[in-house]
Amino acid sequence: MLSERLEKELNSQINKEFYASYLYLSMAAYAEDIGLEGIAHWFRLQSEEEYEHAMKIYEFVNEKGGRVVLEAIDKPQTEYKSVKQLFELALEHEEYVTDSINKLVDLAIAEKDHSAVVFLQWFVEEQVEEEDSVNSILDKFKFMREDGMGILMLNKDLGSRE
Ligand code: FEO
Repeated sequence: MLSERLEKELNSQINKEFYASYLYLSMAAYAEDIGLEGIAHWFRLQSEEEYEHAMKIYEFVNEKGGRVVLEAIDKPQTEYKSVKQLFELALEHEEYVTDSINKLVDLAIAEKDHSAVVFLQWFVEEQVEEEDSVNSILDKFKFMREDGMGILMLNKDLGSRE
């Protein structure tokens, strides 16, 4: 059983994960349009991961006897100033999601819902990885010009993500 409040916040997290999936797909479409297919590939995989995150919570809410209620997904940004901006916004979004997950853990603890606390630990760890992977890509921008070979190397590198 889920408390009403936790059910509501988990539903809200489902929406945030779907939004993240949509946002990363929008970033993939932008990268594709400017001819950077490797970067587009990276964002498409990122988008799929976010879909899986949403579905993980969807399944948990159902397993706990709660009710999944899907809300509208906001329109993501479609125009970007640069490739670097894609990753800056991705990091900003991951930090926002980390904060949201932390608040969910706080709520699960306050509600003494131990199964939710355990379930959410996966997301706590995942957020460390997500922020780290975007941060390590952003680090590379310190050493390259956006119109140079560096961006083509990054495109090739990210295109090999499995
Ligand atoms: Fe599901 Fe990247 O947060």
